[in-house]
Amino acid sequence: MNKRLLAALGAAAVALSLAACSGEGAGSGTDTANQAPTDLTIGVSMPTQTSERWIADGNSVKEKLTAKGYKVDLQYAGDDIPTQSQQVDQMITQGADVLIIAAIDGTALSSQLQAAADKKIPVISYDRLIRDSKNVDFYVSFDNYKVGVAQATALLVGLGVLNKDGSEGTAKGPLNVELFAGSLDDNNAHFFFDGAMDTLKPFIDKGTLVVKSKQTSIEQAATLRWQQETAQKRMEDLLTSSYNDGAKVAGVLSPYDGLSRGIITALQNAGYKGKMPVVTGQDAEIASVKLINDGVQSSTVFKDTRLLAEQAVTAAEAFLKKATPEANDTKTYDNGVKVVPSYLLPVETVYKDDIQKSLIDSGYWTADEVKAGQAK
Ligand code: BGC
Repeated sequence: MNKRLLAALGAAAVALSLAACSGEGAGSGTDTANQAPTDLTIGVSMPTQTSERWIADGNSVKEKLTAKGYKVDLQYAGDDIPTQSQQVDQMITQGADVLIIAAIDGTALSSQLQAAADKKIPVISYDRLIRDSKNVDFYVSFDNYKVGVAQATALLVGLGVLNKDGSEGTAKGPLNVELFAGSLDDNNAHFFFDGAMDTLKPFIDKGTLVVKSKQTSIEQAATLRWQQETAQKRMEDLLTSSYNDGAKVAGVLSPYDGLSRGIITALQNAGYKGKMPVVTGQDAEIASVKLINDGVQSSTVFKDTRLLAEQAVTAAEAFLKKATPEANDTKTYDNGVKVVPSYLLPVETVYKDDIQKSLIDSGYWTADEVKAGQAK
């Protein structure tokens, strides 16, 4: 994301929080159904600006709410749990009428959520499920299990074990693969890994795929805070510990484009070039879309954040009108205390051939951005 945009976002966030200090929303204990949007404030808490997807999410949610006349208090927490708790606390004291929260740690916001419930402020869990609290009113996300299935399938297709239509490919193995997972405090990381492992396990069991490091549990594969550098370091360690006998890595399951880029850097530093090992991803981040276009990364899973933002806004408006947002899943997302009614969106795998149709024609990225590997 370019620096000017980041600076503008920062300035906008400061301006908004100042406005919230002086303006004072009503808090949802009041009759929001009969108030004008201009009198209502929606607090939007996002985890980090180090990944484009969260910047896009924040921008989309804010734009859509602002277009409808609502006041928006958008905050990013720099992937720091106490900062996010404090920001949410502040949104509540400053009179937010609805909260939309993408948590850093899914279990860390219980006391904030209790404070919101005490003031009857509805809470929408955004993309990542907030766990261990009854005070989560709605969940908007993608089908996270299917994200994992899509990533594992893309790994198998990239390796030639499967064809794109799901039929058996020509590659029979044994092929060496390594597995990466996301941050264990993010509920999604477990869904992604479960979906992936359910898909890969039959191929591991029959020896088509070999996890040479033997690191197959989510704990072993996890990457705290989804950090690119952490993934790079683990890949370097795996290459040293398990591939110093001349064996080659054929593929790597990676659950997020940032990690994929760390993994690719480690592989390149170790001498891999030309036809690279198959590396998967998620989020269609522009730097990775370029790598896919250049044949360096194999695939990504595209989740259209514009659609997710739309669902969050729809749910927020329903709550403000004292209605119940429409759910399309009322079974899957048990947060440890209750099943949270959810609206789940579909996901799409993007290989090189799909970039034009899925990402450029849909207006998510321009052809120039893909070429440059940078957002304008
Ligand atoms: C999101 C992914 C994202 C990851 C890292 C997950 O909760 O669902 O889209 O790649 O966090 O930011």
